[in-house]
Amino acid sequence: MQIDETKVIKVTNERYRLNYHLSPNSGWMNDPNGFVYFKGYYHIFYQYYPYDSQWGPMHWGHARSHDLIHWEQLPAALVPGDREDEDGCFSGSAIVKDDKLFLIYTGHHYYDKNDPDNFWQNQNLAFSSDGVHFTKYENNPIIATPPKDNTIHFRDPKVWEHDGKYYVVIGSQNEEKLGRILMYVSNDLFEWEFKGTIAESKSSFEEGFMWECPDLFRLNGKDILLFSPQGIKAQKQKYLNLFQTGYFIGDFNYQKANYKHHEFVELDHGHDFYATQTMLAPDGRRIVFGWMDMWEANMPEQADGWAGALTLPRELTLKDDHLYMNPIEETKQLRKTELASEKCTTAKYNLSLPKENGTEILLTSQIQNWKGNTITFSINSAEKNKMALTYDKKDQKLTLTRQGQDAKRYAKLKKCSELKLHVFIDRSSVEIFINDGEAVFTERLYSEKNYEVAVEAKQTIDMNIDSYLLSRSE
Ligand code: FRU
Repeated sequence: MQIDETKVIKVTNERYRLNYHLSPNSGWMNDPNGFVYFKGYYHIFYQYYPYDSQWGPMHWGHARSHDLIHWEQLPAALVPGDREDEDGCFSGSAIVKDDKLFLIYTGHHYYDKNDPDNFWQNQNLAFSSDGVHFTKYENNPIIATPPKDNTIHFRDPKVWEHDGKYYVVIGSQNEEKLGRILMYVSNDLFEWEFKGTIAESKSSFEEGFMWECPDLFRLNGKDILLFSPQGIKAQKQKYLNLFQTGYFIGDFNYQKANYKHHEFVELDHGHDFYATQTMLAPDGRRIVFGWMDMWEANMPEQADGWAGALTLPRELTLKDDHLYMNPIEETKQLRKTELASEKCTTAKYNLSLPKENGTEILLTSQIQNWKGNTITFSINSAEKNKMALTYDKKDQKLTLTRQGQDAKRYAKLKKCSELKLHVFIDRSSVEIFINDGEAVFTERLYSEKNYEVAVEAKQTIDMNIDSYLLSRSE
């Protein structure tokens, strides 16, 4: 199957195009897929629809990079329409074996194309020797059906190798309508055997009715299950997005396919973060990409012929049973000019940002010296007051307010003597890493005007501010 280039949608307005984040050249993007390192390149694939800025029959878009920062867009790797992926190549992952790059993905099939809720899903394989051109396996599917006690939801295989065997975890739903993760094992990637259910939702409203995009990996002596549950009921200050992304920390036993774990924890506190995928980099870092959007969100760029972006690649680390997320070291390559480097004692600090570039801002302040209780970091534009993040030292709470409906998001910090904000602003996105990645807020933010940053404290405080203009050199 080939893309019909004559029908590919065009970008008609650049006003919200991102400078240093990965987004499609045009058309729709959702989940990151197939994050892998192969023959000198990092590869990232993504859920992609080339003919419209809305979701449609899923393709796999594809980009590669030497440094995780400068990406080269390549032709779509998977185009749906073959017998085993007739109505879509849904999310999946990649692995290198025998000098070849293998993609494992979900085939999506409607019983009746006019009834999108009535479908079935299977798991398929494709491979490539050059990392650019992919061939679908002629004997697809590799996993034809889910176990008998499953519903139709059976997707997003994440593959890895352990002690000479291959494993996948697959997102699914049992017949009681509870989310769960299934595991399969293989000697060769072609023949798969069902090992069992490794984790399951306690109840639909507490942990969700369907679990998407699972990823099981080892980090600092623990086994982390990262996944995207649908259906968790919102609490006052938690689970406020339509769907969540978060993790369990636990211990996985391969012989028994048994996973003992703690409670579910959200990974990011912003409005726009979903469907993560990680990879183990050659140097041992666990790096994650997320989709920097949310289902059913308002996406103003759709009017311009595109939609969707990935977050910055972030390094995951585990400390004291908490997952920290920080921009990878390589993002420093984006720094082009210094915008500010100041130590100041003030209750109000302002910074104007040029329109075309992205910006990075690092702010630190010793909390014990504060006389007031709060500090607010805000991003405004001549259009409207856009977004503000307030830290309240008394209850160690962060509150993010974004203009519009469903405005507020929250995070709690551990006790700390210093507040550190690490902020990345791009043309239509903001990522804020707080206290070395202890809490993160990921947001899409839209303005056609320049941004103005302001830091305001209740009373005069000491702070250090460093800021850089960021740009991906072509
Ligand atoms: C997650 C998801 C996956 C699915 C894909 C379809 O955002 O719903 O479960 O494979 O998107 O595009």
